[in-house]
Amino acid sequence: LKQTETSVVASIAHVRERVKDARQKARSIGFVPTMGALHAGHRSLIEKARQDCRFVVVSIFVNPLQFDRKDDLERYPRTFEEDFTLCGSAGADLVFTPFSAELYPAEQAAFVDVPTLTEHLCGAFRPGHFRGVATVVLKLFQIVQPDRAYFGQKDAQQLAIIRRMVQDLNVPVDVVAVPTVRESDGLALSSRNKHLSTEQRQIAPALSRALFAAVEHIKRDERSARVIRDSALESLGRYPEIKPEYFELVDPQTLAPVEQVGGAVLIAGALWLGSTRLIDNVLYSGQ
Ligand code: PAF
Repeated sequence: LKQTETSVVASIAHVRERVKDARQKARSIGFVPTMGALHAGHRSLIEKARQDCRFVVVSIFVNPLQFDRKDDLERYPRTFEEDFTLCGSAGADLVFTPFSAELYPAEQAAFVDVPTLTEHLCGAFRPGHFRGVATVVLKLFQIVQPDRAYFGQKDAQQLAIIRRMVQDLNVPVDVVAVPTVRESDGLALSSRNKHLSTEQRQIAPALSRALFAAVEHIKRDERSARVIRDSALESLGRYPEIKPEYFELVDPQTLAPVEQVGGAVLIAGALWLGSTRLIDNVLYSGQ
């Protein structure tokens, strides 16, 4: 159970001190990396960490290295007061909010690349994005040195890349995946939903509907990824406001596209509604 009040630190040295102290008290360390603008999806990550671990660290850092577009970085929502309240009520012990200069005191020269897993899905459309994610997550793992780290299934490609990085680089962290939290109409929670106009917000659940319809399509014995994909794109095409980016059926581990559905498959989509990009996915378990 929670032992202390939630506190906030901005320096690496202070995080290390607090984590060292928790370790000396034989507390397991849970870690939830975030970019802030926290919502119920983040809450479920923090609550899961709280259930599993005796000391919970949340980082809030809008990582410039993972933004492929300057306007996206600039307009990324920053809501620190609310974030801090949510961290406290969800059970975090420590919130780490470094300034950019703390994590990147000089131009970064060493990077983490996981090229085979970045070829498809978002990786094909956001050059350098996952390199920025993997690099900052490894840096944060080195700073916090958690036993377990929690990531949302909503960012399925990010999750697969982090799992692979941890495996290939022997990082001593258990990566825990937490299910996507959805609004009652199916829209996956995302910090970017804040940018949607009232009209766009009404249209946005079309993506999750197309994903769940694809699962039903498979359950009705359709095996051709092309047929499933075309029917999803057709349903999204009914909304002139939607600009689909991709809709793919891929292997859940390698993220390579599948042509015929044989077993488990990850169905993932991305689309634009005006200047807001939404992503979502569902996992078909093969049964
Ligand atoms: O999922 C996110 O919010 C970010 O990509 C992460 C993992 C915090 C790295 O900046």
